[in-house]
Amino acid sequence: MKILALESSCDETAAAVVENGRTVLSSVVATQIERHKIFGGVVPEIASRMHAEAISEVTRQALEQASCKLSDLDAVAVTYAPGLIGALLVGVNYAKGLSLASGLELVPVHHLRSHIAANYITHPDLEPPFLCLVVSGGNTLLVHVRDYTDFQVLGRTRDDAAGEALDKAARAMGLPYPGGVHLDKAAKGGNDKAFSFPHPHVEGSPLDFSFSGLKTSVVNIIHNANQKGETVPVADLGASFLRAVVDSLVSNTQKALQTLPVTKKLVLAGGVSANSVLRADMQQLAKRTGVDLYLPELSLCGDNAAMVGAQGYYEYLAGKRAGMDLNAFATMSITEE
Ligand code: KG4
Repeated sequence: MKILALESSCDETAAAVVENGRTVLSSVVATQIERHKIFGGVVPEIASRMHAEAISEVTRQALEQASCKLSDLDAVAVTYAPGLIGALLVGVNYAKGLSLASGLELVPVHHLRSHIAANYITHPDLEPPFLCLVVSGGNTLLVHVRDYTDFQVLGRTRDDAAGEALDKAARAMGLPYPGGVHLDKAAKGGNDKAFSFPHPHVEGSPLDFSFSGLKTSVVNIIHNANQKGETVPVADLGASFLRAVVDSLVSNTQKALQTLPVTKKLVLAGGVSANSVLRADMQQLAKRTGVDLYLPELSLCGDNAAMVGAQGYYEYLAGKRAGMDLNAFATMSITEE
């Protein structure tokens, strides 16, 4: 079964053709990073306009690279939540147009479910149930993936997402957008014990995260140094901050593994799962606790449409369909139907 998948939730316009949820026949990503860089972050209206400009061509290329015509496909899957609303609406409306014109069935896909599904492409043997840490720009969640379309949220961030905190801290350190990527590089070789940060924990909810305090600590360190006319060693500060964020992610993941003793599989998903320190520390955690670790390949950590095609396939099998009244939503729980 072949699905054309579309993604436009943030600053990447993407289209892909995926067969049976696991085989990527084509995957095209047009990134807007260079355009948003000068503003230090994503400008929502610019993002929407750039999606509108790019989506037809990206889709054409995805079909061409897969040697497919619309008539060779079985369905169109599209990201409909969560994300920037104007950006999501471009993909949703384009998918509705394609569905109306071609008669292909329309399958709405939750963005975070897609990030998890990126692992089905990288690891053809991976099947639920498993524990997944989803770490992206807008979300941080510990999820028990009971089945392909059955999720239980065990922990979530109470304030900033991990990626958001990394981006904001990196910006305060003078690093370009997207901060997490540049922080990863800048922190290499830095002393991760040079600065000490609080160990965030959420009273009464040991699996929840909180990153805004850490972010504020970084900003305060930089302000204090500036006031004294001192320069902050970016490699050391970056490494120490990254250590604090990763320690919190690893510590809660370890606790979650203890609450799910039958689950021997641990999966990472989302843009921040590309981080070198997080990947290395999760390898160690997996070794210590005797679980199998599944990491998405680097090209599938960030936003792409191949992962939408993967999850779209399982949503299709579960009977999920949308009509011409499909809407986009800026926020939506991963558990919502
Ligand atoms: O999953 P994603 O592409 O977008 C959302 O769906 O939110 O995640 C983007 C986030 C950004 O915060 C970016 O800075 C972060 O992922 N990121 C990284 C790395 N690569 C991307 N953070 C740390 N280290 C990286 N190597």
